Amino acid sequence: LSCIIYNISFFNCTWNIKAEAPEDIQIFSSYRHVGKLFECQQYIKNARKKNIGCHMKEIYFQPSRKIDLNITARDFRNNSRELSYYKTFTPQTIEKLNPPNNVSVSLENRSIKIHWKPPPTIGSANNKCFLYQVKITDLKIVNVTEENYKYPFHKPANKCAAQVRAKKEICIRNKIWSEWSEPVVIHGEKTVNVLLLSTTLFCLLIFLGGLLMYACRRYSCLEVITMPVPHPSDNIKTWLTDETHHQQHMSMQMEMHSEVTVGILKENRDENTEQQKCLKDSGLEDL
Ligand SMILES: *[C@@H]1O[C@H](CO)[C@@H](O)[C@H](O)[C@H]1NC(C)=O
Ligand SMILES: *[C@@H]1O[C@H](CO)[C@@H](O)[C@H](O)[C@H]1NC(C)=O
Ligand SMILES: *[C@@H]1O[C@H](CO)[C@@H](O)[C@H](O)[C@H]1NC(C)=O
Ligand SMILES: *[C@@H]1O[C@H](CO)[C@@H](O)[C@H](O)[C@H]1NC(C)=O
Ligand SMILES: *[C@@H]1O[C@H](CO)[C@@H](O)[C@H](O)[C@H]1NC(C)=O
Ligand SMILES: *[C@@H]1O[C@H](CO)[C@@H](O)[C@H](O)[C@H]1NC(C)=O
Ligand SMILES: *[C@@H]1O[C@H](CO)[C@@H](O)[C@H](O)[C@H]1NC(C)=O
Repeated sequence: LSCIIYNISFFNCTWNIKAEAPEDIQIFSSYRHVGKLFECQQYIKNARKKNIGCHMKEIYFQPSRKIDLNITARDFRNNSRELSYYKTFTPQTIEKLNPPNNVSVSLENRSIKIHWKPPPTIGSANNKCFLYQVKITDLKIVNVTEENYKYPFHKPANKCAAQVRAKKEICIRNKIWSEWSEPVVIHGEKTVNVLLLSTTLFCLLIFLGGLLMYACRRYSCLEVITMPVPHPSDNIKTWLTDETHHQQHMSMQMEMHSEVTVGILKENRDENTEQQKCLKDSGLEDL
């Protein structure tokens, strides 16, 4: 048999029933609290239609007063045959808290802080009663008694999320943890800056690209780019031919110059031989 109080006013009890229990047996439950008797509101049944639990809501619990639970097995063939089982609980010890409220993340003094508010409770709401656990993606779960926790790393991993759960520990012994709160995403200062920076760079690139395109259209540089490239060998041939012509032209000039110089300087010598020698020296005989 186990019972739980949750969401302040909800009360569940469940029990096991042996498979070999006779057909004519049914289980009923009721409880006494603060002098009043309460019958089960809604039974939870198994496949054989036996009651295996009871769900109740909108119950007001006095946290320090006892709940006297009565579970009775009754035999329908003989109404005088019944067997009762009794158990007593203190409401606070079987309370499952709701997850902590308003879990949020803030940047404080260049570090990341996770804040929350304690959940409502049927018992003492003294801050000292609560124990919390903080779970951050891939990190070890940490126990916290404050209502905040400083994230120990300045650069959180990608997609980092924080969750918090609570239970009573100091004021009362309770083993039942609340569910984890909804994950809250942690954005580190640097992560945000990197995101901003990359977005800015991206926009700048797009803008510059657009500008280039516009300029290209304006000054038709695209035409130059898209113009067909002449065959490379043709290109080289043309260039080479040009060069030879140029060289020939230069040589003619040099030859003429040599002739004139020779004519002036060596006028007393045999003009023909000297001229031939000069032509030989300059290597321009063939021209
Ligand atoms: C918790 O209790 C409140 C108020 O009694 C109710 O409105 C809400 O639906 C309950 N939540 C769940 C999960 O049952
Ligand atoms: C309590 O019982 C109801 C009805 O079976 C079920 O919907 C609910 O999840 C149970 N809650 C807890 C906390 O066991
Ligand atoms: C327990 O419940 C059964 C069945 O309702 C009842 O006959 C019995 O008197 C109850 N026991 C107490 C102590 O109230
Ligand atoms: C009904 O149960 C009582 C108590 O166990 C027993 O004395 C009696 O004989 C039973 N009656 C029948 C008809 O089985
Ligand atoms: C949680 O936040 C809501 C809205 O921001 C606010 O109305 C509520 O009072 C807060 N709860 C607690 C316990 O601080
Ligand atoms: C921030 O840190 C400085 C130095 O470590 C400290 O003096 C100051 O009180 C801190 N402020 C807050 C709001 O935590
Ligand atoms: C956290 O608290 C729970 C409950 O008191 C305890 O069982 C556990 O050992 C603690 N964990 C650490 C790391 O202190």
